[in-house]
Amino acid sequence: MSVAKDYTLANGVVIPSVGYGTWRTKPEDFAKECVKMAVEQGYRLIDCAAVYKNEKGIGEALRQVDVPREELFLTSKVWCMDRGYEKTKAAFEKTCKDLGTDYLDLYLIHWPSNKNYDEDPVAVNASTWRGMEELYKAGRIRSIGVSNFKPHQLQSLFEHCEIRPMVNQIECHPGWYPEETVKFCQENGILVQAWSPLGSGAVLGSETLLSIAKAHGKDAGQVCIRWCLQKGINPLPKSTKAQRALSNLDVFDFTLTEEEMAAIDAMETLGYSELDSDTVLFDH
Ligand code: A2P
Repeated sequence: MSVAKDYTLANGVVIPSVGYGTWRTKPEDFAKECVKMAVEQGYRLIDCAAVYKNEKGIGEALRQVDVPREELFLTSKVWCMDRGYEKTKAAFEKTCKDLGTDYLDLYLIHWPSNKNYDEDPVAVNASTWRGMEELYKAGRIRSIGVSNFKPHQLQSLFEHCEIRPMVNQIECHPGWYPEETVKFCQENGILVQAWSPLGSGAVLGSETLLSIAKAHGKDAGQVCIRWCLQKGINPLPKSTKAQRALSNLDVFDFTLTEEEMAAIDAMETLGYSELDSDTVLFDH
């Protein structure tokens, strides 16, 4: 089975099929070095978020690399406490300023709800979305989406939106495959992005993955990424090491068999963050 180097979103925007994650890449100076390294290794999709507190460092990196802005695909996310029509627009401007850009390729609602937040999550997501739709129509964002939404949370948003989300970014890796959400998104033309596609590194010692990797002359990380791609999912692996970042992109010269895909699907829960969007509490 061949997989393409890009995906095309519902609105026709093209997005690289493997991206670079920046969660927990702190402080700013370290994020700067990591993102410079990632772009040098060939990454063009950089997945950011205001709450990662490293967008200024990433902005500096992007100014220093020798790649024009239009060849990069920059994603960011509006944090829970910044949701709402006006606050979302302000958060978007701050992210653009920090990243040193006047537009984003993709902007996401970071989490659908937060039990600490005193507004009704459906209402606050609807007003956030209205702000994002306006920015999209004004040409400031090339595509809009959500993150960590389950089907019921997407259904609620559908009732309040004019433009449907083009992306849903969720935790997804061998050892944590949210099949129902993936199926719902794919049936609705929403690209699924996988955060922590390596299970934050915790799945890489799995015997299942190691034996499949050995059969293909690859490593367990490459098997995780290839498994995502063969499911039509857009993985966003992180590595602070140049050699690993490069090897995580070297996933286009082998194919997992149906049996291998099924064996990975059947793995026991492993590396799960336990961040459930129905129950998670953030204290900031
Ligand atoms: P490091 O930065 O030292 O490479 P995820 O993308 O699922 O969040 O996983 C990120 C974690 O996996 C990081 O701790 C990273 O460590 C590690 N990692 C990333 N790529 C590889 C790889 N190819 N082999 C082993 N560990 C990796």
